Amino acid sequence: MAQPNKGRLAVLISGRGSNLGAFIDACASRSLPAEIGIVISNNPDAPGLALAREAGIPTAVINHRDYDSREGFDAALVHAIAKQEIDLVILAGFMRILTPVFVEPFAGRLMNIHPSLLPRYPGLNTHQRALDAGDAEAGVTVHFVTLELDGGPPILQARVPIEPGDTAERLAERVNAQELVIYPLAARWFLEGRLQLTARGAELDGELLPPEGVAYPGELPDTHRVRA
Ligand code: GRF
Repeated sequence: MAQPNKGRLAVLISGRGSNLGAFIDACASRSLPAEIGIVISNNPDAPGLALAREAGIPTAVINHRDYDSREGFDAALVHAIAKQEIDLVILAGFMRILTPVFVEPFAGRLMNIHPSLLPRYPGLNTHQRALDAGDAEAGVTVHFVTLELDGGPPILQARVPIEPGDTAERLAERVNAQELVIYPLAARWFLEGRLQLTARGAELDGELLPPEGVAYPGELPDTHRVRA
């Protein structure tokens, strides 16, 4: 039976697709009231494309190498998404810097996940940078996307303690486990109409969120969990 009020997502990937997998699972278990209308990859070899195909989700490859400019590539993305009547665009390991051509049409309905405790460590190699700085903890942030790279208002943040002898790879694995929980949760809040980007910043239930977003406590009550 058709589900009323299901949100439609576009998920943009470049690689493995573990976050995409979490969205597929959350939609399938109905803990996220959504369906994924399209998965787009800029990388034709992204392993995540196979995950989408196995789940019967339409895929598109829009290879940035086929475009002369970032703007041209972004316009092709906008075109592909616009055809799908999408409520929320999810950047899930999408490794391209976006221009206003892409960001402006989706302002307020565009999210990213970044593997650091923003505002610390925007950009690449976040785990190694946290280790090199001697930080006690690392983490991950879901945020609204604005034109500032990794600089849009944070929504949810999970902290992950750094352990003695950690490597960037080991840390990334523990951070990734948190990503898979908090990203579908942020999307659920959005689709439930609880979360908005306003001129003030990210607001949940009408309250302006703190600069680091909601602290994910790790042990939310079951009713707040998204994964089955
Ligand atoms: C994640 O670490 C995410 O935080 C970052 O890129 C990675 C994507 O992983 N932006 P996956 O492709 O979802 O497995």
